[in-house]
Amino acid sequence: MNLKDKIAEIPDFPKKGILFRDISPLLRDPSALSLVIDEFTKIIHPNDVDVFAGIESRGFPLACAMALKYNKGMIMIRKQGKLPGPTHKVSYSIEYGSATMEIQANAVKKGQKVYICDDLLATGGTAKAAAKLVEKIGGKVSGFAFMVELTDLKGSKAIKGYKYNSLVKY
Ligand code: PRP
Ligand code: ADE
Repeated sequence: MNLKDKIAEIPDFPKKGILFRDISPLLRDPSALSLVIDEFTKIIHPNDVDVFAGIESRGFPLACAMALKYNKGMIMIRKQGKLPGPTHKVSYSIEYGSATMEIQANAVKKGQKVYICDDLLATGGTAKAAAKLVEKIGGKVSGFAFMVELTDLKGSKAIKGYKYNSLVKY
């Protein structure tokens, strides 16, 4: 199976001029979803992970599926105002906007190895902000897993120095 066939292209969403890469067809196909997890299993060593972090919202299904596969837990990095209790915040910009994300202050124990998951790497603004949050609360980012990478936007530069893997590149 070619995973590219499972990613839809929607022109001018959410803004004019953006070609939106939609992972919904991949998520609703059980064989495509299993293939994604199997591919990451070949690349990510269990010793490098104590917990998977998912970035809201499209990073959640990947992080959760990986957590189940590796028998680890999953933590949520969310858009501002959604997480209860003490949190840390970081503001960032993405290909088509800007936002603030949060993590719960007690989401990881000091030194825990966190593998950050998201559907897609574009400019890398989101991924970099997620790494900052994990580090702010004492976690160690051991890598990033993306299903899709938009290589022209050079997101890999934003997360230089971190290990990262992407399965489908445009
Ligand atoms: C999208 C995508 C990534 C981010 C990538 O999230 O799911 O998280 O943009 O862009 P970047 O590399 O330029 O930062 P979005 O903010 O649209 O939120 P959503 O997952 O809730 O749709
Ligand atoms: N996040 C940032 N850029 C994106 C794009 N072109 N398609 C889907 N998600 C995105």
